Amino acid sequence: MSLSTPSVCVTLGTRPEAIKLAPVIQKLRSIPNLKTYVILTGQHREMVDGVMKLFNLNSDRDLAIMKPKQTLTEITCNSLQGLEAIFRELKPQLVIVQGDTSTAFSAALAAFYQKIPVGHVEAGLRTDDLFNPYPEEANRRLISQITQFHFAPTELAVQNLDKAGVTGEIYQTGNTVIDALLQVADNSPKCNIPGLDWSKHRVLLATVHRRENWGQPLEDILQGFYLILERFPDTVLLLPMHRNPTVREPIQAFFAESQVKSRVFLTEPLDYKQLVGAISGCYLLLTDSGGLQEEAPSLGKPVLVLRETTERQEAIIAGTAKLIGTSPKAILSHAEDLLTNSQAYQTMATAINPFGDGHAAERIIKIISDYLANR
Ligand code: UD1
Repeated sequence: MSLSTPSVCVTLGTRPEAIKLAPVIQKLRSIPNLKTYVILTGQHREMVDGVMKLFNLNSDRDLAIMKPKQTLTEITCNSLQGLEAIFRELKPQLVIVQGDTSTAFSAALAAFYQKIPVGHVEAGLRTDDLFNPYPEEANRRLISQITQFHFAPTELAVQNLDKAGVTGEIYQTGNTVIDALLQVADNSPKCNIPGLDWSKHRVLLATVHRRENWGQPLEDILQGFYLILERFPDTVLLLPMHRNPTVREPIQAFFAESQVKSRVFLTEPLDYKQLVGAISGCYLLLTDSGGLQEEAPSLGKPVLVLRETTERQEAIIAGTAKLIGTSPKAILSHAEDLLTNSQAYQTMATAINPFGDGHAAERIIKIISDYLANR
């Protein structure tokens, strides 16, 4: 390819960005006469490497910024500075960012400073509470202000962007997470956890990592899990732990001496294939993750959302997820309903996934190709 070949930089730093951008990168790389550079900030390390391998992706640059217990300021400053140099060198015609992480915000800002158009994948999510989730709600709002191509997953996301009065073009594309999920689920992956017999127990699959849940809310959530395990002896808890010690240490401490310890499986983060296997095999999910709220309905699993707000209202409206907060009592009573009332369970398990049909990346690529062709 010659120096005048158009190029696109896809930037990512965390595991969910890697999962959700994988289908976009795969398709971009199949376009003739387009150079696609994948730029990692390195906000996450091990958790991104596995996803890159699974989807057969390699990166072109890596800022390797991760430090233990890094602050938001460190992530933002280091990414912004590193990306400035890379964009200067590569001179892309478009920078793609995904979601609402500090990597996504820094990449959009670095592109904006060099007047490079930004394409924002998963644009338009809002809770309308600036501190919930923190700092993601602010990140996504800031990114929207400096984006030229808003790839909104749902109609509600389009409406949010319209309401915000953003400049640039808004497209409803579906969420690329469904593209990624269906690609992996096609091979019916299994999740093998030593000592966990999936046929003997109802498995509660749980994850917690959000900053607004650090401290007391996390303790409350763990107490809620304990109450469920105590009340329902046929259940086990599978809790893949985020690598962040601020989250991991209290979880390990809580269950270390607990009476239900033998039915608690605390593991390393599962690789994406195993995670998809775990969603397929579990009975129900309890999580503060955004991605799991989008993925679980495609595999017919109800989700109890351990947060006070959600930017995925579509899941609540469609009936695939319930927003239950973090109080132990609420966690027990909502889980109890799903563990004892088969009609309540079926209603949630069979609702239609509002987030996409698995063709979001195709739509995004068409828009990008048209833009590059007409420049
Ligand atoms: C980040 C995103 C969040 C996203 C989440 C997905 C921001 C502000 N937050 O939150 O939106 O939902 O990623 O996981 O961008 N660590 C490792 N190895 C890893 C990854 C993390 O050791 O592969 C540890 C490090 O100690 C790191 C800490 O986890 O300092 C926190 O990581 P960070 O990216 O700051 O925040 P997350 O909570 O992961």
